[in-house]
Amino acid sequence: MTAYPLEPDAAGMHRLVDEAMRRIVAHIESLPSQPASNVEGATDFARTLIEPLPREGVAYDRLLDFLFDEAIPRSFNAAGPGYLAFIPGGGIFHAAVADLIADAVNRYVGVCAAAPALVQLETNVVRWFCEIVGYGEGSGGVLTSGGSLANLTAIIAARSSVLGNDFSGGTLYCGDQTHHAFQKAAILAGFPAANIREIPSDAMFRVRLDLLADAIVQDRANGYTPFMLCGSAGTTATGAVDDLAALGRLARQESVWFHVDGAYGAFFMLTERGRAAMEGISEADSIILDPHKTLFLPFGTGALLVRDATVLRSTYSMHADYLPGFQQGDELIDFCELSPELSRDFRGLRVWLPLKLFGIEPFRQQLDEKLDLAAWAAAELHTIEGIEVDAEPQLSIVAFRLVKPGADPDALNRDLIARINARQRVMLTGAVVDGRFVIRICVVSHRTHRERMEMCMEDIRAAVSELRTA
Ligand SMILES: Cc1ncc(COP(=O)(O)O)c(C=O)c1O
Repeated sequence: MTAYPLEPDAAGMHRLVDEAMRRIVAHIESLPSQPASNVEGATDFARTLIEPLPREGVAYDRLLDFLFDEAIPRSFNAAGPGYLAFIPGGGIFHAAVADLIADAVNRYVGVCAAAPALVQLETNVVRWFCEIVGYGEGSGGVLTSGGSLANLTAIIAARSSVLGNDFSGGTLYCGDQTHHAFQKAAILAGFPAANIREIPSDAMFRVRLDLLADAIVQDRANGYTPFMLCGSAGTTATGAVDDLAALGRLARQESVWFHVDGAYGAFFMLTERGRAAMEGISEADSIILDPHKTLFLPFGTGALLVRDATVLRSTYSMHADYLPGFQQGDELIDFCELSPELSRDFRGLRVWLPLKLFGIEPFRQQLDEKLDLAAWAAAELHTIEGIEVDAEPQLSIVAFRLVKPGADPDALNRDLIARINARQRVMLTGAVVDGRFVIRICVVSHRTHRERMEMCMEDIRAAVSELRTA
């Protein structure tokens, strides 16, 4: 034991990284053969881990063995190719290396003066995202830990920009398919649940504009102040994309803030099909998008973009005399002026490094491949007797269900999903839409390719034929 164990020497640093690296590489190389989900008994195991504050150290090897052999395997294999559940992330390795660099050099990026060049690299990332969604001059934004915090940051900015301090009568509008993160953020931003309107959607799970317009009129007549509407650029349950151009027109006409939840879908703007589906997105006042979904980053990075960057500053800027001076012009940015956070990780590097290393093209190709794979999966599902496709892919999610005369549809499909997942090659999850339980295939990971989708279809076919004869 050295005199200062918290400060390893060169050999110690190599050992720490090399031993972890050996296990990481073995883990990543084995992802395709790992079960898509392995959580049986995992919560019981988790309970056995509760322990008091350690007084003494444990050998590094033993800790790594514990992590890689015991703790990590007992989970959904969210990084693996068979993870078609929820919204997958994947997690490109280059971003993990960027995290190691960012954490090891540990520069302070909350204020520009502390590391101007690094702050600029992260600002470039935000600018690139603005370019992807079609935002022009004057736009800006901030990287967050995920879509939920991006939503919260957006709602508070919209609230203070449109309503000021007296916001109790403000009403917000979203679809019944909007991710609950929007409603949750609205409540956290101080709005009563009764001020949030969930508007029903149409047969393609897109928010109904006629009902939305009626609700706004009705609320005004009742003395409320409609101030924000949220469209979805890819819903979680079925991947539905609202008519963003029409929502934008309605928002302008009604002078309400137009927000788009593109946490899952907005990066498909890199593809031609995505741009066609999301026409009008650049008219939004704010957009959230999650690099830890459709830019394949490890979990922990979301983004909020705003068409007029000054609204973030006017909402979140607060100086204190113990801080360095903030930048005065528009060119250099202090991130602490754009969100509730002061100290933060240098999260921009995990986006910057892979984008600089490869350019955007491989990301676009991956997203195009996912659109193809979802379309292929939908076409295959149509050929399986008894399967009904409830939601054709608008992006890379397809939702379906098995129909069997006389069987309880929800129980039947919960059984089907369990049988598919029991084969351990893919993991699917369901959602309740329009009061019925549907099974979703969500293709997002950079590790999911045609051969895994073929396995998925084989397993669906096998499970369906078991149930048909059961
Ligand atoms: C459409 C959509 N919006 C928002 C969120 C919330 O994002 P996060 O989990 O990054 O907080 C999700 C999460 O899956 C989502 O699918």
